[in-house]
Amino acid sequence: MRNERIPDRNIAMELVRTTEAAALAAARWMGRGDKNSGDGAAVDAMRMMLDTVDMDGIIVIGEGEKDEAPMLFNGERVGNGHGPQVDVAVDPIDGTRLLSLGRPGALSVIAVAPRGTMYNPHDMFYMEKIAVGPAAKGCIDLSAPIQWNIEQVAKAKDLPIEEVTVVILDRDRNTDIVDQVRAAGARIRFITDGDVAGAISAGLAGTGVDMLLGIGGSPEGVVAACALKALEGDMQCRLWPRHDDDRKMAAERGLDMTRVLTIDDLVGSDDVFFAATGVTGGDLLEGVEYVAGGATSESLVMRARSGTIRRIQTEHHWRKLENISGGRYHDD
Ligand code: FBP
Repeated sequence: MRNERIPDRNIAMELVRTTEAAALAAARWMGRGDKNSGDGAAVDAMRMMLDTVDMDGIIVIGEGEKDEAPMLFNGERVGNGHGPQVDVAVDPIDGTRLLSLGRPGALSVIAVAPRGTMYNPHDMFYMEKIAVGPAAKGCIDLSAPIQWNIEQVAKAKDLPIEEVTVVILDRDRNTDIVDQVRAAGARIRFITDGDVAGAISAGLAGTGVDMLLGIGGSPEGVVAACALKALEGDMQCRLWPRHDDDRKMAAERGLDMTRVLTIDDLVGSDDVFFAATGVTGGDLLEGVEYVAGGATSESLVMRARSGTIRRIQTEHHWRKLENISGGRYHDD
């Protein structure tokens, strides 16, 4: 992915403008009970801003297939066509329900890696996931019992098991995992949505979260793996079938449901760029806040090759943004 003209260009600094645009457009929909409009606003704004990014991108993780998603569909070319050839994973809103209900933790997210390096889960909706931060890198194994994994994390972080905190999506399909975590003696932080933020929390120091476990969305698994590459954390996933149709579809696509996908299977490069902007304020990032004539936002901007992690607080001024958005951010 190295751009020979300017070897040290950090595309993440451009990508954050796409997540900021998505967050600014979507945050207007906070608490309005309308998931689709919030998501649609984010998709529109992210799409518009992506055209300015110096890259020749193909969406690998997007809003679905072309016939169901007018924009940011899987296979769509994005970027201005110049610069590196890359795979792009977008989640214009991770946590559409959080946004529509005005709950904390909705993010807008994008990741970029060299062409052909991102895992494509096709239509396989869910994955089992385990994610940890740098201290426990190399210590996890999704095929081993949960208790063993928690013990490994406890040892790596020099914590008693009772002080290990596991973040888990609150879903019936995760009941067995919850029971095993409790039996092991660890603590649980349940989230109602947004396991990309959950995985990032496991990867970042100072969040109070030591690991993420449980079955969540497959696209979100690939996006989270990109973030964990940049955080020098670790992640493993395994496709999880909902029913026989999923098993049949996986077989047709040549996807192995039993295979443990390592972080390198999920994104096979260390040259990964990642940006996320808070939409509704949460533990990880502040949400968009409106002030007279503008808004503020907070973003995480990361690059795996350099290991740089930036938190960017941005002031947005509608009058000036109007020139690039046609008023889309603040018209109501
Ligand atoms: P959306 O914003 O696309 O609705 O995803 C939110 C989310 O909570 C993800 O973070 C998670 O991976 C997935 O949904 C879990 O899926 P489900 O809600 O079907 O259990």
